[in-house]
Amino acid sequence: MFIGVKRSDIFKIFSEMVKTYGPLFRAFSGFIPLINVTKPEHLEQIMSSSIHVHKGMMYEALKEWLGDGLLISNGVKWHQRRKMITPTFHFKILEHFMPVFVKKSKLLIDYLEKESNGNGFDICPYITHCTLDIICETAMGISLNAVSDRNSSYIQATNNKHYFNSTRELFIIRQASILQQTPLYPFLKEGKSFYENVKVLHNFTNKVISERKEYLKEHPIKIEEDDETFTKKRLSFLDLLLTSTEKLTDSDIRAEVDTFMFAGHDTTTTGICWTLFLLGLNQDYQQKAYEEIQDVLGDKNTPETISDLNELKYLECCIKESLRIYPSVPLISRVLTEDITLDAFKIPKGTNCNLDIYHTHRNPEIYPEPEKYDPDRFQPENSKNRHPYAYIPFSAGPRNCIGQKFAMYEEKTLLASILKAYEVIPVDTRESINIIPQIVLKTENPFKIALRKRTK
Ligand code: HEM
Repeated sequence: MFIGVKRSDIFKIFSEMVKTYGPLFRAFSGFIPLINVTKPEHLEQIMSSSIHVHKGMMYEALKEWLGDGLLISNGVKWHQRRKMITPTFHFKILEHFMPVFVKKSKLLIDYLEKESNGNGFDICPYITHCTLDIICETAMGISLNAVSDRNSSYIQATNNKHYFNSTRELFIIRQASILQQTPLYPFLKEGKSFYENVKVLHNFTNKVISERKEYLKEHPIKIEEDDETFTKKRLSFLDLLLTSTEKLTDSDIRAEVDTFMFAGHDTTTTGICWTLFLLGLNQDYQQKAYEEIQDVLGDKNTPETISDLNELKYLECCIKESLRIYPSVPLISRVLTEDITLDAFKIPKGTNCNLDIYHTHRNPEIYPEPEKYDPDRFQPENSKNRHPYAYIPFSAGPRNCIGQKFAMYEEKTLLASILKAYEVIPVDTRESINIIPQIVLKTENPFKIALRKRTK
């Protein structure tokens, strides 16, 4: 069904398949059967289980980039790492990240000023630089200054040739090509580009790690024996990895840094850009969000505390509704570790299951008029009776997103700051864009929005 089809049409065909065959169907990728799952009860059976936590085969091709980091690893390794890293995203640690969110939002607002002339532009590179700065300064303890320092070697390494974009795209193209899944891959044009990109991305993370190692040599973390657990609970992500007494090799550490660097900025960038796009197209909701931001922030340009963020309840509904319509991660996959029965169907152990987030969020019985952007769906009174697995942008169960609180705080801080300073005006429409899943949900060509400076 997909051979010879234009890249931008693949997702449309897939959506047609979901419409035709319903919430549970089998398709073949070459000779390999894949089960597509969108029914909340079925998703719950798989995702809430501590048995079916093994990632599907589609992640294999990411190994060369992300190694055995938390996103891809399985079994005991995943379990131990998850336990070890979880405290570094604890609420108490996130509170300390707030000043970085604030500092970077202010810088972003200044940089957006030159675009606030009402002309259409692609905002994603601005947001990418900002979120990359944030993940580096919070989790890794390294200042990049990507937003202001466009000549920074990090930015050249990651963005000049859109390394994240093209690495994601090469990964997707590989999934659809039998030839690219053979040992010939490194010798093909696509394979050569993929490995060249991976080299640049690894150089980038190696540099982050070595800079932080140098810093720790000069400023060692003192861990008193009697409060070892206490101090360790407060270490940030990279410091924990670098000072761990568990035997972590350099490549173990690099895999985790690669994973968090990618998962920690590309997903939130996507979420922020889609929210701005949808609020531009829905001026009433934008106005309502703006009024709330004005009420909560008063004279401040950005939220400054977690309690400011907690008060931005309507903005949260807008973000949640954007993540419903355009989930940053549209599809994930598991390989079943034991046989399971979904309704009348027995699915054998070893089967790959697509947990299809994008289409789960478009079930008209759960979300009437599913294509309509309506943040009120997420008001407490409207969501209280919804099945918990009908809304899964951050996945759910034991392999859910470890960074979801971080993501929500970051998105709220940046969006509130942008919306306070600028009015978002629509340029592209939903009909004029072609969405393409590229691990995260992107468009074939960058979509445009426009900004107009608000008068105080
Ligand atoms: C809007 C933002 C985000 C969305 C929508 C999102 C979504 C997801 C989803 C759907 C998964 C499950 C992946 C799978 O099963 O294959 C996941 C896992 C993960 N996410 Fe996020 N994520 C976001 C932000 C973040 C951030 C900010 C970080 C890090 C700071 C992060 C780190 C991770 C990691 C490490 C995993 C793997 C967890 C595990 O398997 O134990 N994510 N995320």
